Amino acid sequence: MDGVTDAAFRFMVAKYAKPDVIFTEFVSAEGLSFGADTLLLDFLYSEIERPIVAQIFGSSPEAFFKVAPLLCELGFDGIDINMGCPDKNVAKKGGGAALILNPKLAKEIILKTKKGIKEWTEGRSLKSFGLPDNILNLLSGPTAKFGKDRREVPVSVKTRIGYDKVVIVDWVKHLLDAKPANISIHGRTLKQMYTGSADWEAIAKAAEVIKKTGTLVLGNGDVKSKKEAEKKAKEYGVDGVLIGRAAFGNPWVFSDKEPKVKEKLKIAVEHAKKFEEIFKNRKFYNIRKHLAWYSHGFSKAKELRIKLMKAENAKECELIINEFLSENP
Ligand SMILES: Cc1cc2nc3c(=O)[nH]c(=O)nc-3n(C[C@H](O)[C@H](O)[C@H](O)COP(=O)(O)O)c2cc1C
Repeated sequence: MDGVTDAAFRFMVAKYAKPDVIFTEFVSAEGLSFGADTLLLDFLYSEIERPIVAQIFGSSPEAFFKVAPLLCELGFDGIDINMGCPDKNVAKKGGGAALILNPKLAKEIILKTKKGIKEWTEGRSLKSFGLPDNILNLLSGPTAKFGKDRREVPVSVKTRIGYDKVVIVDWVKHLLDAKPANISIHGRTLKQMYTGSADWEAIAKAAEVIKKTGTLVLGNGDVKSKKEAEKKAKEYGVDGVLIGRAAFGNPWVFSDKEPKVKEKLKIAVEHAKKFEEIFKNRKFYNIRKHLAWYSHGFSKAKELRIKLMKAENAKECELIINEFLSENP
């Protein structure tokens, strides 16, 4: 999730709950293909996250073709194409959920992504795909993983049930023409944004069609626990379930654990330290939303939250939390 599931957060998730698969935030394929090198920070990851899938968005098949081998070279276990983002800035350029209105382009994007991967696995050099030098030069830095084995990673799609009305069954039939390895479906239309509730019946109808082709299907929307995910998977015939917002301040949502307040706050400190370790030049306020989410749902949480919002670094955060725990054992 954009602005949330960075490498520090994903590390915490992998360490404390280990879901079957983790996705990065979405990153602009066009941005990368034009040389926006700071975007590579969104593709930092730790080995414990595997399998880790890189998610990209955009509307230019050529950009996907160039960026796919880059993601292979970075060692990702899969490439997911975002066709579900409702953000105006993304949709007005024809990317994200706007692709639901343009199945021809959507298919071309999947096919070009696969083509990029295929040519790379066959030995074509990354340099020859035409990415800007500043991106290529950075690959010798700490982000480089260099998947030496040149394996052909799967391409998947994350989408919604429609643009302004539910069209998911027809829409997935188009997607299936391009043979993605998996289709993940958030049970809302673009128009709904995040309002109302996810339509799991619509997901189930699409799942029936998708499964006939041997393609995997994951359902998504409003799931709050691992138990609920397992129940939904059975009830609606999907191969798995993606959990998004329920992971805010709750990285252990993918497990059966429900830590006590003390453990939760220790994890918050560890998260803040991890953030500083990974993102040396990123301002600490970027992690405040996580600290606010961690300090919720227990006695005097608000007082703690107000103090944490003023912390300038992980050390201060630790002092505030230790003080809180000694006063509230
Ligand atoms: C802040 C925020 C950022 C998101 N960013 C992404 C993203 O980068 N890629 C994506 O596929 N979905 C993104 N989503 C959508 C979620 O992945 C998910 O589909 C949606 O929130 C519904 O699932 P949930 O009810 O489990 O949260 C984002 C959602 C939120 C709230």
